[in-house]
Amino acid sequence: MAVMAVIGGQWGDEGKGRVVDLLAEKVDMVVRFSGGDNAGHTVIGPYGEFGLHLVPSGIFYPQVTCIIGNGVAINPANLLGEINELQRHGVDTSRLVISDRAHLIMPYHTLLDGLEEERRGGKALGTTRRGIGPVFADKVARLGIRAGDLLDKDALYSRLKSTLELKNAILTKVYLVSPLSLEEIYEQYCRYGERLAPYIRETTDMLHEALRKGNLILLEGAQGTLLDPDFGTYPYVTSSSPLAGSSSLGTGIGPMQISHVVGVFKAYTTRVGSGPMPTELRDEVGELIREKAHEYGATTGRPRRCGWFDAVASRFSVQVNGLSEIALTHLDIFDAFPSVKICTAYRLGDKVLDRFPANVGVLEKCQPIYEELAGWRGPIGEIRHFDELPIEARHYVARLEEITCCPVGLISVGPKREQVIKAKSMLPQ
Ligand code: IMP
Repeated sequence: MAVMAVIGGQWGDEGKGRVVDLLAEKVDMVVRFSGGDNAGHTVIGPYGEFGLHLVPSGIFYPQVTCIIGNGVAINPANLLGEINELQRHGVDTSRLVISDRAHLIMPYHTLLDGLEEERRGGKALGTTRRGIGPVFADKVARLGIRAGDLLDKDALYSRLKSTLELKNAILTKVYLVSPLSLEEIYEQYCRYGERLAPYIRETTDMLHEALRKGNLILLEGAQGTLLDPDFGTYPYVTSSSPLAGSSSLGTGIGPMQISHVVGVFKAYTTRVGSGPMPTELRDEVGELIREKAHEYGATTGRPRRCGWFDAVASRFSVQVNGLSEIALTHLDIFDAFPSVKICTAYRLGDKVLDRFPANVGVLEKCQPIYEELAGWRGPIGEIRHFDELPIEARHYVARLEEITCCPVGLISVGPKREQVIKAKSMLPQ
């Protein structure tokens, strides 16, 4: 089992960075396969606490080659800022590689993301305003500029010139704002190109060579399943697929070569941005979860909406990703709770739904039906073996496994690297 994908099972922010950091100890490569710097992966390790947005979470291990795959959209300024920050803390970034096929976020992408959010007014999606929607729209509209284009200044100039004509027409005629300067963007991106050139290369050959050698490869997802443009709460979604299937497309590794898929879920649910969230708690319990777990966006600092574990949405997520196992994070947040709840179905008028609906209009009307379990009322942060967890915590985990139809392989009980419980066998051993 040489290739393992790690994806988010909920609305993002499940703690994927932390899980990848843990598993990366035993692998040879970590490859980011989707999203952009809308992601914020927090890793706490020997170098302190880092909020990574583009650099794969394996960067803290000296043996790991970290690839930003073709499925990622890169903001070069932010990537360079991240590389500088890592280097400033003594982290070796020479093992970082950028796929020449990865698309670039251009100044008009971030600008249009913000303008489009303003235009939506009260119906804004609550995007991170990092240009994600516009960059992935350009990718499929065949208007994109890719990392490899930075290595050929003439090609960069001509692609930028033709795209910018269209973008400036949209900016001036639709949004009534000033046009952007071709020369300024070109010069700025030439400078980025000079600095990023040592990292940019063709990466599929590299990956397939690693596979031939029997290397272990970890594919690192971003965002979460319920933000997927197909299976998420459309249109309140992101613009690249966070699903396990996308780990194949975003790297160039065939689906048959991915042998293990880990879905990361919080022991509760959070969401940042707009859109329905049936188990959202707008009361002191939601506030308690937010404060205990410090649920504020790693990219935007926005407070996250918090609620109980939604097993209907999570079961759907297990299905559409074909999960091998779940990594359950933040179980310790419930340490002082007298009881914990799991949403097992939705009430819709006089009907009971046990499937996650496609239509957000329907989901907005769904009321959660809860099952209440006893809490464990004690700290679990020092526990390292599943059998030593209080019986109530074990029941909670067992019930989640039962309702989601997926085994829980790993449980985190605190923010530090060592605060984990390997519940069942988990790759790599
Ligand atoms: P975008 O990806 O910036 O276009 O934002 C679309 C939606 O996805 C918004 O609701 C964002 O809050 C949400 N989103 C994007 N990235 C993340 C993430 O890394 N964690 C959680 N939510 C995210």
